Amino acid sequence: MITVFGSTNLDQVGTVTRLPAPGETVAGGSFSMAPGGKGANQALAARRAGARVLHVSAVGQDAFADMALALLEAGGVDLSQMRRADAATGIAMIFVDRQGENVIAILPGANGTMSPGDAERGLAALAAGDTLLVQQEVPQAATRRALEIAREKGALSLLNTAPFLPDTAELARLADIVIANETEFSLLSGRPIAELDAAMADWVAATGRTIVVTLGAEGARARTPDGALSVPAHPVVPVDTVGAGDTFCGYLAAALDAGLDLGRALHRAAVAGSLACLNPGAQPAIPLKADVDAIAG
Ligand code: RIB
Ligand code: NA
Repeated sequence: MITVFGSTNLDQVGTVTRLPAPGETVAGGSFSMAPGGKGANQALAARRAGARVLHVSAVGQDAFADMALALLEAGGVDLSQMRRADAATGIAMIFVDRQGENVIAILPGANGTMSPGDAERGLAALAAGDTLLVQQEVPQAATRRALEIAREKGALSLLNTAPFLPDTAELARLADIVIANETEFSLLSGRPIAELDAAMADWVAATGRTIVVTLGAEGARARTPDGALSVPAHPVVPVDTVGAGDTFCGYLAAALDAGLDLGRALHRAAVAGSLACLNPGAQPAIPLKADVDAIAG
């Protein structure tokens, strides 16, 4: 059983011929809305990977809330711990250009009302042997409490460091497994990207935790107290990379929760993350288990 504690957004996506520069107006393209938010995306990815998933989060009482929850609901994610806040549903405003490059601004709304109390309420049933997956799109005090509860109860905990926040290093020491992209890990370790392998080894030696660094088209690397691992990505021509990192995290959590070893879990996560780049949008592009099985076996 996986509990995802984190954000839920409705993504407002403009597909444009080219990204506007500050002060510039660019005309042409198309608009769509799709469910998103790093927490919700990771919950749906874990669910599509075959896990039982509870998503602890908050949305508003506006019309966007139902749209934001539609795919989680259709996918069978447990929404019994979804709080209806007195705030707007979280919104991500996203522009994607023809090369798949994107810019994103997040208006947190209800996500910004998430508190340590939400962690205590939502994680009341978390037990030893369960898995907790958190990101950083809700206030860090809430995320910190969720990680502490996982530790108290003996659940496996995974922290995705996106988006990077000032106290990330402190939170990372509360998690069993930290998942970062190269930029985030450079910020976390205080070392340049060129020193990635050495920085990963030093960080694990200092913390005793496991670090997973996602490398986009280069796949992913991991370092545990026992050694190093690396897996390739599945080669794709990306259409839209939004949600690829979340898909990686959700699939990784599901594979570990199902008892796979870290190497196999990373392989499935990397394939799933690659497949998520083949379609527009975050949640609509998350691959199904059968699609990942067909490649990862
Ligand atoms: O990681 C992708 C997500 O980031 C999008 O779905 C958007 O909601 C932003 O939060
Ligand atoms: Na996508």
